[in-house]
Amino acid sequence: MPIAKKISEFMEKSSWIRRMFEEGRQLKSQYGEENVFDFSLGNPFLEPPSEFTEALIKVAQDTTPRRHVYMPNSGFPETRQAIAQYVSLEQGIKVPLDNVMMTCGAAGAINTIFKTLLNPGEEVILLTPYFAEYYFYVDNSGGKPILVPTADDFSINVEAVEQALNPSTRAILINSPNNPTGKVYSESNLKELAELLSRKSREYGETIYLISDEPYKKIVYDGVTVPAIFPIYQNSLIATSYSKTLSLAGERIGYIAAHPEIEGINEIMDGFILCIRILGFVNAPALMQRVITKITDLACEADEYKRKRDLLCEGLAGFGYQFHKPEGAFYLFPRSFIEDDIAFIKELQKQNILTVPGSGFGTPGYFRISYCVADETITRAMDGFKKVAEKYL
Ligand SMILES: Cc1ncc(COP(=O)(O)O)c(C=O)c1O
Repeated sequence: MPIAKKISEFMEKSSWIRRMFEEGRQLKSQYGEENVFDFSLGNPFLEPPSEFTEALIKVAQDTTPRRHVYMPNSGFPETRQAIAQYVSLEQGIKVPLDNVMMTCGAAGAINTIFKTLLNPGEEVILLTPYFAEYYFYVDNSGGKPILVPTADDFSINVEAVEQALNPSTRAILINSPNNPTGKVYSESNLKELAELLSRKSREYGETIYLISDEPYKKIVYDGVTVPAIFPIYQNSLIATSYSKTLSLAGERIGYIAAHPEIEGINEIMDGFILCIRILGFVNAPALMQRVITKITDLACEADEYKRKRDLLCEGLAGFGYQFHKPEGAFYLFPRSFIEDDIAFIKELQKQNILTVPGSGFGTPGYFRISYCVADETITRAMDGFKKVAEKYL
């Protein structure tokens, strides 16, 4: 085999979205692009706001010499300062610029954190259903992913987390608003988790870090807000990006923010600087850092996604689909009518509807619909969703 056995196994494990993509391509060539309803990808639908384009043009026109040479690995000080100010306001706690590091998206942020924190074999708790790439990020750094199911309403099952904790637990990674469920964790749920982590850190004499992956933070509906994590848990790190909120996923720009009183801050930040190099990112893209400095608090119109959520939820509920209405992000995670979620999504495929089985997120018996698509894709797919529901009801 030309490639590593482990990567070959991982490819098999992570193949759902890729498989859907391939099958979707076939369907599209057979039936025409407009007759295939592709809900498989989490690619943002909206265009970035005009303020982004204006900032980009300004930055591109600047011809100051040596603008494109190597820079500090943690990012431009003025960018980190702008982010530090923004995060301080958002979290209600003063965060110094030294606690901010610019990264290649949220994925770059999470990988940099794990590379810095994890000793070989140390455990990281991931809550299922989960963004499947997390598994590989933990493995990249020699850690051991431990999958812990969430409660029926997709909130954090703190008792289940307690059962999974042990002296080898180094961190827990949470994501709210969540991919794939759209769940936003409540403040009381997070406080309960924080209390547990503090108690267990004391008991084991080792810090358990809480990593909060927040790329969907500003895509929330019906007045829901995402609780700030810093006031809730001292040993916390935020990993985030502008991929989803500004539709800049291709530009690879994000950041890490560390709690001002996190244990071992100097070593952690120095570790990040080394690890962003080791991982080969070296630094976040310079052009995008300069752009983001000008538009730190900008976000897309979440109401656009809310309209799509409502269109989808109202339609599916009418056909008997069962789900928790998402409070944020742009995903719906309904139950498949039958236990075999793979067989179920194949039925949807027969109606030219592409979704991803819950198995791909560590939770069989469900499937994921990405509703970052045109309204028309949702309305035109309804007939197919209805036909499949009728088959099982
Ligand atoms: C939950 C979650 N975390 C992280 C990422 C990666 O984001 P980025 O493109 O900023 O690296 C994604 C992308 O889909 C995601 O859904």
